[in-house]
Amino acid sequence: MSAQNPSAIRIVIIAPVDGLDQEWITNLQSDPGVHVQARVGVLQRGIETVQHLQPNVLLIDRTIEEIEETIQAVYATAPDTLCVAVLPQQDMPSVRRLVSAGARDILIKPLQQRELLASIRQVVQMEDARRSRIGQPSILAKYEQRASSSKVIVVMGPKGGVGSTTVATNLAVALRRVSGREVALADFSLQFGDVAVLLNLWSKHTLHDLAVHYTTLDEGLLDRVLVPHESGIKALLAPTEPELTADMSGKQVTAIVEALRNKFSYVVIDCWSFMDEITETLMASADQVLLVTTPEVPALKNTKQALEYFTRHGVQRDRVSLVLNRFPSVKGVTLKDIQQHLRHPIQANLPSDGPAVTYAANKGVPVLLSHPQSWVAQSFLKLAAWVAGDKVQTISYEAPGASRLVEQKQAETKTVRWRLGRRPSH
Ligand SMILES: Nc1ncnc2c1ncn2[C@@H]1O[C@H](COP(=O)(O)OP(=O)(O)OP(=O)(O)O)[C@@H](O)[C@H]1O
Ligand SMILES: [Mg+2]
Repeated sequence: MSAQNPSAIRIVIIAPVDGLDQEWITNLQSDPGVHVQARVGVLQRGIETVQHLQPNVLLIDRTIEEIEETIQAVYATAPDTLCVAVLPQQDMPSVRRLVSAGARDILIKPLQQRELLASIRQVVQMEDARRSRIGQPSILAKYEQRASSSKVIVVMGPKGGVGSTTVATNLAVALRRVSGREVALADFSLQFGDVAVLLNLWSKHTLHDLAVHYTTLDEGLLDRVLVPHESGIKALLAPTEPELTADMSGKQVTAIVEALRNKFSYVVIDCWSFMDEITETLMASADQVLLVTTPEVPALKNTKQALEYFTRHGVQRDRVSLVLNRFPSVKGVTLKDIQQHLRHPIQANLPSDGPAVTYAANKGVPVLLSHPQSWVAQSFLKLAAWVAGDKVQTISYEAPGASRLVEQKQAETKTVRWRLGRRPSH
């Protein structure tokens, strides 16, 4: 696969939101000589993604003004990235404008695969030749030194049914999309794990096999047990028989998580709602804990209790981030009340989208793939970009293009505030 070819040219593509699946983009992704790290439809996010991933080449298909603005931003934040612009038609004034802005090549649609690859290779070769003259290494060599860090992200819902598995699954797929790196999704919701159904996967090998061989875990065993998904992620499925993991120990959990950490750039872990040795071990291994909650009193009450539990058990607060699922909600608790109650930053909100999420769950396809343009899918991409290190503002109240805040429709009642607060002692 191109992602594993160390000499592949790393590319980020910025295109219009409705043009992310153009034929030339899809064709490019299948070429082993290039590695499309991310396709981004939102301009600002695209610039941030380039800043974070520092690709060799940025291919940008937007309006002339947007291309100009992007090239300037990229020069400042990703100076080694070479920009290639894509224009809808031959237009000399636009070409001259982009050349003086710093575009390395300008291609005119419709794009032929051969012409596109030749352009990409040529701009890289020319830059490498320039670097070699001044004694600098190839731009392709530079990346190998930076790609090694890995991150374990534990997703947990302190109340059942708040969306932990939906978040973990889509986050894993989104991380693969925005980073282009190797991503594992591990189902530590051991007794009734849902990752297999949400991704429509089956295997006779599960987490149980790793637990049994936890003292001798190696890459070969991981390769046999983890199941590849069409999105490019690999899934470690929960056992199909609940009793199989009844006595799993913290030692086994640690060994499995560390083996995954050694092989993957991102390890996303879905876990169940209660605090036991398994959850505690996962929390201790995590670089980041995403606590999923919904704007309803019972879920918020449990979230507060979970945060307090973390404090008592040494899970540093700065490793814990709140994800508000199914928000905004017309009858739900307001953001202001939630913030006052939890006193912990809310990193992201994911809107409720019953038709898309239910369809996706029933088909066994992540909503990010079944409804890529939906608000909920876009929110997952934003969350993933943040997890991957982008400084993105992930909390948002409205669908892209919507004109008013849904939150304004919420009823702020005293009753909700009282129910969230501590009960009077008398
Ligand atoms: N943003 C959303 N919009 C609409 N429906 C959602 C959303 N998130 C989750 N759901 C739905 O809520 C239900 C519970 O989701 P999910 O299984 O992900 O939760 P969970 O916290 O993992 O539950 P469990 O405690 O059973 O493990 C599912 O039917 C799912 O389709
Ligand atoms: Mg679940």
